[in-house]
Amino acid sequence: MSTINNRFRRLRSGAVIRDLTAETTLSVKDLIYPIFVIEGTGITEEIESMPGIFRYSADRLDPLITRVTEAGISSVLLFGIPEKKDAVGSESCNPDGVLAQAIRRIKELSPELLVIADICLCEYTDHGHCGLVDGEHILNDETLPLLGKMAVTAVRAGADMVAPSDMMDGDVTVIRHALDEEGYEQTPIMGYSAKFASGYYSPFRDAAESAPGFGDRRSYQMDIRNGREAIRELNNDIEMGADIIMVKPALAYLDIVKEARNRFLHPIAVYNVSGEYAMVKAAARAGYIDEERIIMENMIAMKRAGADIIITYHALEVAEYLS
Ligand code: PBG
Ligand code: ZN
Repeated sequence: MSTINNRFRRLRSGAVIRDLTAETTLSVKDLIYPIFVIEGTGITEEIESMPGIFRYSADRLDPLITRVTEAGISSVLLFGIPEKKDAVGSESCNPDGVLAQAIRRIKELSPELLVIADICLCEYTDHGHCGLVDGEHILNDETLPLLGKMAVTAVRAGADMVAPSDMMDGDVTVIRHALDEEGYEQTPIMGYSAKFASGYYSPFRDAAESAPGFGDRRSYQMDIRNGREAIRELNNDIEMGADIIMVKPALAYLDIVKEARNRFLHPIAVYNVSGEYAMVKAAARAGYIDEERIIMENMIAMKRAGADIIITYHALEVAEYLS
């Protein structure tokens, strides 16, 4: 007679029983697909460090939006890249600017697709910082009204949700007020609540032409060493009225996601960022890893840690793997 009383292998013996007892699920409905829209016409350019990801001019979005909706993806996150940048990021509030045009185009192509507008100045400022600057100093309170105005501009153009990624203190409060004042009290805010000053954003900065011209973002994005402070940031976004909270980047920060899941009842999003995507793509291209397995393992890891929503450049591939 056996003396082994816990036989874990009983529930691993076949695919059916493994599926029956699986703790984590992944659905195409969990995914948000980020899209870079560049000013101009006739542009579809691949981002070198992000194979498979392109900058599109608004007139070239049609085939992509068709692919996204046919894949069953229900939400996209838009980043606008304007032609003209200045010190105050004026184009961010242009009702006919690149972001507004892209939103209108997508809502025209696919009215049911949930369009989320990323709210931040770094793609619009000539210095590449997420706020107004005074010398080397990144201004907090002076930046807030511009973020409110940018959010209102995006929602007026048809955005269904806004996602402030600026990491200025008080951003969600000011954006909530600005939206409510315009009658958009039903428009949700997804806060980039715990956004770390991460090396994993560098491919994005090439993609969005948004690298800071001087210094870095450490005076406003979070120190990578701080887990407790991340909980305070998440809690603060909730207090300011964020409807969805976010942790960014994803994979090196799943401890934060798990902790947030245990503490908060709000929907939690994770941003599987550009550098995380680039690393998988590079290793897969070199033949070092099995791309599909690694992508799906990463997706499951984010869900298992407690994420409800995954923002990922892999969304189209994941949709295909799931179908
Ligand atoms: C802009 C913004 C960034 C990302 C999302 N919004 C870059 C940054 O803060 O430098 C990063 C996304 C990614 O790396 O995929 N505030
Ligand atoms: Zn920014």
